[in-house]
Amino acid sequence: MGYPLIIANWKLNQTQAEIKLWLEDFVSRVRLGDPIEVAVAAPFPYLFMLREVKGLQLAAQDVSRFEHASSHTGEVSARQLADLGVEYVIVGHSERRRDFGETNEDVVLKVFRSVSWGLTPVVCVSNLEEVEALDAGLKGKGLASRCVVVAYEPLEAIGSGKPADLGEVQRMALAIKGVLGENRRVLYGGSVDADNVLKYAGLAGVDGVLVGTASLKASNFIQIIKALVSK
Ligand code: PGA
Repeated sequence: MGYPLIIANWKLNQTQAEIKLWLEDFVSRVRLGDPIEVAVAAPFPYLFMLREVKGLQLAAQDVSRFEHASSHTGEVSARQLADLGVEYVIVGHSERRRDFGETNEDVVLKVFRSVSWGLTPVVCVSNLEEVEALDAGLKGKGLASRCVVVAYEPLEAIGSGKPADLGEVQRMALAIKGVLGENRRVLYGGSVDADNVLKYAGLAGVDGVLVGTASLKASNFIQIIKALVSK
């Protein structure tokens, strides 16, 4: 399954100046070659700032479901993300499903575009129906389920400071693998911080974490990484 994967999800936060400070802190305190894979999902305009940081993978928070060079003002294509050196793309985050009406069909199209350009989609789900829809959609497009990472993020746990029940997370992680295959990488997301990360990352079936609020300050994010590395 590889090293644990930790992805920071900055959402609509950060400015150039803040990212410069974040990176200074990160680069001086995180050792290269630690047995962990770290990605940061920065807002599109700032992705370029993370490109030169060794040991850090680039992630995007979304991708267009439309083809590159089609006429869709405001969209960013999978090809453009690949061109920037992006590795992971968050797809179907519950905030996008809720606030932008993103459907399971949109999610599958975004996965399709991402995979077509060599990106790894990190598909966020909050229940088993979304996992089953993903499975059906992948099959419909002739895509192998191994092309996706899945992040289980229960709605009540996101940004609430109330992470999900451990037993429930383990049950869902195993259920996701039951649907999509044992070797699928499954992350947990929802109020993860340095104090609780080991409990979640240590669960059977959980291969890493997606971190929103606690990734905004480099010091907090570094503490989470150090906790994971010390495991
Ligand atoms: P949170 O966000 O860590 O602030 O709960 C997680 C997410 O939305 O991915």
